[in-house]
Amino acid sequence: MSADAGTRAVSELLERSHRLGADPRNTNYAGGNTSTKANVPDPVTGDDVEVMWVKGSGGDLGTLTEPGLALVRVDRLRSLVGVYPGPEREDEMVAAFDYCMFGRGGAAPSIDTAMHGLVRCTNVDHLHPDAGIALATAADGEALTRECFGDTVAWVPWRRPGFQLGLDIAAIQAEHPEAIGCILGGHGITAWGDTSDECEERSLRIIRTAEAFLVAKGRPDPFGAVISAHAPLEPEARRARAAEIFPLLRGLASTDARQVGHFTDTDVVLDFVSRERLFELAARGTSCPDHFLRTKVRPLVVDLPGDAPLEELVARIRELHAAYRDEYRAYYERYATPASPPMRGADPAIVLVPGLGMFSFGRDKQTARVAGEFYVNAINVMFGAESVSTYAPISEEEKFRIEYWELEEQKLRRMPAPKALATRVAFVTGGGSGIGAATARRLSAEGACVVIADRNVESAELIAKELGGPDKAIFVSVDVSSPEAVAKAIAESVLAFGGVDLVVNNAGLSISKSLQDTTLEDWDVQHSVMARGSFLVSQASAKVMMEQKMGGDVIYIVSKNSVFAGPNNVAYGAAKADQAHQVRLLAAELGEFGIRVNGVNPDGVVRGSGIFAGGWGAQRASVYGVEEEKLGEFYAQRTLLKREVLPEHVANAVFVLASSDMDHTTGLHVPVDAGVAAAFLR
Ligand SMILES: NC(=O)c1ccc[n+]([C@@H]2O[C@H](COP(=O)([O-])OP(=O)(O)OC[C@H]3O[C@@H](n4cnc5c(N)ncnc54)[C@H](O)[C@@H]3O)[C@@H](O)[C@H]2O)c1
Ligand SMILES: [Zn+2]
Repeated sequence: MSADAGTRAVSELLERSHRLGADPRNTNYAGGNTSTKANVPDPVTGDDVEVMWVKGSGGDLGTLTEPGLALVRVDRLRSLVGVYPGPEREDEMVAAFDYCMFGRGGAAPSIDTAMHGLVRCTNVDHLHPDAGIALATAADGEALTRECFGDTVAWVPWRRPGFQLGLDIAAIQAEHPEAIGCILGGHGITAWGDTSDECEERSLRIIRTAEAFLVAKGRPDPFGAVISAHAPLEPEARRARAAEIFPLLRGLASTDARQVGHFTDTDVVLDFVSRERLFELAARGTSCPDHFLRTKVRPLVVDLPGDAPLEELVARIRELHAAYRDEYRAYYERYATPASPPMRGADPAIVLVPGLGMFSFGRDKQTARVAGEFYVNAINVMFGAESVSTYAPISEEEKFRIEYWELEEQKLRRMPAPKALATRVAFVTGGGSGIGAATARRLSAEGACVVIADRNVESAELIAKELGGPDKAIFVSVDVSSPEAVAKAIAESVLAFGGVDLVVNNAGLSISKSLQDTTLEDWDVQHSVMARGSFLVSQASAKVMMEQKMGGDVIYIVSKNSVFAGPNNVAYGAAKADQAHQVRLLAAELGEFGIRVNGVNPDGVVRGSGIFAGGWGAQRASVYGVEEEKLGEFYAQRTLLKREVLPEHVANAVFVLASSDMDHTTGLHVPVDAGVAAAFLR
């Protein structure tokens, strides 16, 4: 054999993984793993050695790359059977995988490595398809598996992922040479094949056969009848109500650790939450081992219709949340041993509300979204299992062992420390250009979810895309001078991320005219965008912050001109002075809610500024008698530091004000003007 055999095996494995991972019916996000084996020359001896490429810990099949594979020597992995101390100490085998690696590099081997190595076949797929898990969690799953597949697919009773599960599967495979794979009780499926194509064909055959079996044999309405009061609200009313209660839910879900939210109101979710059996089934909890860490063992289910009077709904949600926390603590205490990791937080990750949909939470947007996706997987699983049998996931004690598994705890501990603004939702007005765009970039780089709110929706969209799309940033179209538009933009932000924590009142424009030349329209437009606009945005966003009870920041991009009086600037300067005083007034009013209000006073930010490009620059240049291109330099020379101020410098100040290092500061104005003595605050 040559090294080429390895290259070919890897490319076939990656292609197969991508095809399997691309279809959500085949496996959940980041769930499952695939492997292949081939003989390659051992650089030490020159002899052939059998190695296995297996998807490592973390990552998703759909986007698997070679560095995501662990490379293991098959002979050494199989030799572990000789030293295996038994199921009670199987976790020790994970550390032993390090001694089975073939060379350096590649991913860390996952807990499922033993299964792939011990199965006597060149290619192995282990997947978490909803239809497969439906059979795996059906009370009579073993009999149903036989009925569905005859002898071709074996049944493996529930066992926690690990070395012993690998041994179990290998033994069953040896006993059933006719089998193409197996259903793993309470868990998922595993299939094997000599070639990559054969393995893939068998995986798909198992999944599609299970799907068809469930449809053909399934009874209608396994979730019971629709409760008419719990039927989905009309889309507009639904989203409006969801936006009204999301900040409260997010605040409650963040009691132990700050969370970002995600909202799902797809048909599958709306149907489930409208049915009679919602409460009973949701209480049985989720199913697949990789669900619990993301979704917690069970969701919080609200037992009032989504369109109940708001006060009633809010009061009930608070009660249910308190009860959820008590129950979670009791669950922890029921099963924790002295060796268990400490309790991680008792708040729900999934909240279901009849008529509205599902609210899911996580430490960032992607995690919150995936938690919701996992719960949709769980709904599909419950539907399938209940349509042919009774949904009977693994016991609560087993769920606890997985949720607080030492190996999972180690994975969590290895995660990089969160960024400074992780979990914060920032709303940047005028974020499509200049200082706003630089601020959006900086806040995003520091881990915040960002809403680019701008009247110029094309530029806002560009920046949101640049920041990485909806898991990182969204754009909303808003004219900040319109109360309706502001309310709508804030509601969109809430629906996207669960709330708002950090508002940057930056939208603005500038018209430089003398007192006599300033028209009423000039005066009004500047006051309506800057004075009125930032008032409206502060008002709408502070309401959300007060409902969240998570504190917050409001930062005004004011101007040197709020304190410095020069000619030809009456409307702009007065509007900026209005904003500057809003900072102090709101700092005084919102302090009791933990909301800090601060301002930044930039000056002479020429490069990247739409204000300067749009005529103000030419006008200022002519006032000072310099060429327009030299205006930045001219301003720099006027400063104490002789430095040009760029949008990034203003963004830096916004970050510093929002960071926890400044959490005892409110009502402050920070000049970012390279030093202008005439604008010193006094
Ligand atoms: N550039 C400077 O030297 C300077 C100095 C001091 C203060 N500022 C202030 O900084 C802020 C940003 O200025 P910039 O230089 O980045 O300007 P810019 O023109 O590059 O960006 C302003 C953004 O605000 C948006 N906007 C304008 N009116 C809006 C409205 N009604 N609703 C929503 N969005 C609106 C614009 O579409 C634009 O994307 C302004 O408040 C400005 O007064 C700028
Ligand atoms: Zn699995």
